[in-house]
Amino acid sequence: MIPDANESSHRPVLVAEVVALLVTNPDGAYLDLTAGAGGHMKALASKLGTAARLYGLDRDPQAVDRTRRNLGDCRQVRDIVHAAYGDLKTVVGQFEDKKFDGILLDLGLSSDQLADAERGFSFSLEGPLDMRFDPESGGPTAAELLNSLSKKDLTAIFRDFGEEKQAARIAAAIVRERQQKMFTASADLTTIVSQLAPPNYRNKALARCFQALRIAVNDELAQLSKLLPIALDFLNTGGRMAVIAYHSLEDRIVKRFFQQAAKGCTCPPRFPVCVCGRVPQMQIITRKPVRPAAEEIASNPRSRSARLRVAERLPV
Ligand SMILES: C[S@@+](CC[C@H](N)C(=O)[O-])C[C@H]1O[C@@H](n2cnc3c(N)ncnc32)[C@H](O)[C@@H]1O
Repeated sequence: MIPDANESSHRPVLVAEVVALLVTNPDGAYLDLTAGAGGHMKALASKLGTAARLYGLDRDPQAVDRTRRNLGDCRQVRDIVHAAYGDLKTVVGQFEDKKFDGILLDLGLSSDQLADAERGFSFSLEGPLDMRFDPESGGPTAAELLNSLSKKDLTAIFRDFGEEKQAARIAAAIVRERQQKMFTASADLTTIVSQLAPPNYRNKALARCFQALRIAVNDELAQLSKLLPIALDFLNTGGRMAVIAYHSLEDRIVKRFFQQAAKGCTCPPRFPVCVCGRVPQMQIITRKPVRPAAEEIASNPRSRSARLRVAERLPV
């Protein structure tokens, strides 16, 4: 069932921290690249001045609809568009602002997506094995990947994107199973993984395999790696980028990007003058990632793995 666009079960994570660390200019322009249900955008709007401009995008058309309704009364909102952040350059071309004082990325999926059985993201709900953030994209569904990829490629997905130790066994079982019956429903994958995982590790294995497949379907890690340097170009000097990651694979990408962007001259110390010409482009604001407080984790258990990193654009 498609949930009512007004009724969001998603609770934004680290809201106070995001607002405090992202807003440096209360009358500036802000861009949320993963609008979701608009929770962070709403919190930002409540802290921004009346001259501020707020933009959002999401790859999921239902999320866009939900965010538009949720933010209907926020006067700073200029545009909320259906797009993947991989298309940032084209999307910003349509906006009144071309540079931003803050850019937010809240990665992964929302509680609304997880709770909608028709999307196939959850191993505890029965539905089609789809998992595309944008079901209108025409890209392959999770079922199509399971039915077509080689054992080697499936192993790589479960190993590299799920850090699943039984990756090869699970991939082999999928390839065997699909010779009898093609994968169509989330229960088809749940059954295979449950048969192979020891009972006390079953839920963890299911979570890892579903996460891995979702990352593959949406090409999440490659999209993130490509986006970060592009997003940096859209920041005003003094503007900030804030990224919330939910697993170590994406957090590592963000951490390394910020570290690289914060690096100055890389010439060997014996060189009398710099020949590389490299200057730092960003200053890291959060030396360590910001984690949710115990109270937030208690009231919103899905926040427990969140890690927020923030960096600021330096003058060039
Ligand atoms: C954790 S939710 C964001 C929740 C949001 N911060 C809120 O407060 O409601 C992540 C969102 O990112 C979207 N998303 C994932 N990959 C995307 C991409 N490449 N481009 C745009 N949106 C994407 C998902 O559709 C999902 O709605």
